[in-house]
Amino acid sequence: MTKTVSGFSKFTKQQKIDWLAKTFFADAETAKKTLQTYWNKDEQLQKLHDEFIENTISNFYLPYGVAPNFIINGKDYVIPMAVEESSVVAAASLVAKFWSTRGGFKTKVISTTKIGQVHFIYEGDTASLKTYFNKIKSRLIGATDAITKNMRKRGGGILDIELRDKTANLENYHQLYVTFETMDSMGANFINSCLEAIAREFRKDDIEIVMSILSNYIPECLVMAEVSCTIEELGENAAEFAKKFYQAVQIAKVEPYRAVTHNKGIMNGIDAVVLATGNDFRAVEAGAHAYAGRDGQYKSLTDCSISDGIFRFWIEIPLALGTVGGLTGLHPLARLSLEMLQKPSAKELMQIVAAAGLAQNFAALRALVTTGIQQGHMKMHLQNILNQLGASEDEKEQLILLFKNRPVTYNAVVEEFQKVRIKA
Ligand code: MEV
Repeated sequence: MTKTVSGFSKFTKQQKIDWLAKTFFADAETAKKTLQTYWNKDEQLQKLHDEFIENTISNFYLPYGVAPNFIINGKDYVIPMAVEESSVVAAASLVAKFWSTRGGFKTKVISTTKIGQVHFIYEGDTASLKTYFNKIKSRLIGATDAITKNMRKRGGGILDIELRDKTANLENYHQLYVTFETMDSMGANFINSCLEAIAREFRKDDIEIVMSILSNYIPECLVMAEVSCTIEELGENAAEFAKKFYQAVQIAKVEPYRAVTHNKGIMNGIDAVVLATGNDFRAVEAGAHAYAGRDGQYKSLTDCSISDGIFRFWIEIPLALGTVGGLTGLHPLARLSLEMLQKPSAKELMQIVAAAGLAQNFAALRALVTTGIQQGHMKMHLQNILNQLGASEDEKEQLILLFKNRPVTYNAVVEEFQKVRIKA
């Protein structure tokens, strides 16, 4: 049977599900039921979700948790997180509590400039292109007036347009390099609309516009967060711990294989808050990893120092976030997250997210240089295995007790689960 289809997007939701069920599933009824189980009973709410994307057939749930006790620049926060990885929220909560008694997180926004480019091919001489650009530059900005009107009222808009000659990299390649301030919005639609208007105005016979698009590389939309305390305040085996922690960060600064995993741990915290607030985690991911490789070698996004008895640990990361526009106001849980965060500006949200990333990295490194991560991970994973096996609350209680001081492996859990079940 053919598995291709035409006119699928025109099908009703039920027709789409029927077609999928009969085409791909041995048990079509169960497949349909599974999809329906995740529909929201509130039809209006379901319609809202259906319309976020095309061809929606159900909702895909992620756990939505909170990490309390974050103190950032002296202000208390409970940070909402949407994430499926077992240990992320627990780790953030533990670390937030730890630093809450050691001065909390100190954060600051370094810069907020975003970038977009009109990429074009021009075969003529550079001098006449420059003359044309200088002559038309104010018209290029003028061409965006209607789009930038509201943004300008809020203090944002286009900062500058530069002509860049990229012919050393690619034959005849040039670009208009446009910088933006997008205030509390992430600004992707705003930037792209401006760029397309600029490109329309700039176009002439000898200029071949290839494309106009924002860049997710935003090394000038930067935030930093740090924690610090005396070595003694770090707790048990403080000096030894500080030394190993410092070494772990140094390794991630020189060894890309380690740096990628190190930064992945940071993104565990960052993505979870970015998702919970309705922001674009793919944009954040792309920008963060590009920044980690800005010197030509992929490196840790965090750094650490030990000097004069003071342990200091910090992160510097580019983050393009919004607290207005996009999903932030549309998704009821994103709205709720922003209210829980006390309605932050985009700048405040950058700082909260950076603190969450730093906390996550602290948790991972602390575990890695002491007990190893499997102890904590597998305890949380045990819960997942037990759910997968369909364990009752009573069975779960018995098995959690049994594995309290024992390594958790899938096979060991299944074996013990079967014994407990037979006994019952
Ligand atoms: C797992 O999701 C993240 C860690 O691997 C991060 C790290 O190794 O630093 C624990």
